[in-house]
Amino acid sequence: MTKIAVLVSGRGSNLQAIIDSIENGYLKAQISVVISDVGDAYALIRAKEHGINAVHINPGRFESKESYEKEVLRVLDYHNSELVLLAGYMRILGRPVLTAYKNRILNIHPALLPSFPGLHAQEQAIDYGVKVSGCTVHIVNEELDGGPIILQKCVEVKDDDTTDTLAERILEQEHKIYPEAVRLFVENKLSIEGRKVKII
Ligand code: GRF
Repeated sequence: MTKIAVLVSGRGSNLQAIIDSIENGYLKAQISVVISDVGDAYALIRAKEHGINAVHINPGRFESKESYEKEVLRVLDYHNSELVLLAGYMRILGRPVLTAYKNRILNIHPALLPSFPGLHAQEQAIDYGVKVSGCTVHIVNEELDGGPIILQKCVEVKDDDTTDTLAERILEQEHKIYPEAVRLFVENKLSIEGRKVKII
C-alpha cells in the first residue's frame, strides 16, 4: 500500500477527506505521517484521533529555510513516505523536498489554475468577477501553483457570493477531487508528459 505523507498548516479538512477515503476503502493507501509547521493546527488533532503519526516541525527552530526543509525531508524519509500531499500547507516547498519527491508531491488549490494562484484564491475570483471558479489538484514543481494539472472541478460563482460562501462550495468539491486524484496516483493511472497529465 502506498505510504502517504500529508503536510498541513491549519484545520485539515482535506486531510480529513483523505483519511475518510482510506477508512471507507475508496483509497488503498496508508498515511505514514502528518507534518505541520504550525503547532496548534487542528489537522494534527485530526491525525492523532485516527492513530496517525502527527509531527510538528517548528520552522523557527532552524537557522535557515533549507535546514528546516532538510528536517521535513528527514521525517518524510523516516516514515518511508512515497507520496506527499500538501493540504493547506502554507509554505512554499524548497529544493530538498522538491528534488527528493519529484513528481510525487500533489497540492489542492481553491481556483481553476492557472487563474488565481497564490493566497486568497477565492477572494481573487470574487474580486475579478468571474462567473465560474473551482479547484485544482496538481503536481507540485518549483513554480508556485504552476505544476501539471491532474484534476479540476468547476464551481459557479453566484452574484451574492461572499468569499466565505464561495470558499465553502469550492471546499465541498476539493474533498471529492483530492481523494480521486490520490486514487489515480496510487493506482498508477497517471502518466506525466511535460505539462500534461494523462489518465491511463
Ligand atoms: C483549502 O482551501 C485548499 O484548497 C488550500 O488551503 C485550504 C486548506 O483547507 N490549499 P483545509 O486545511 O484542508 O481545511
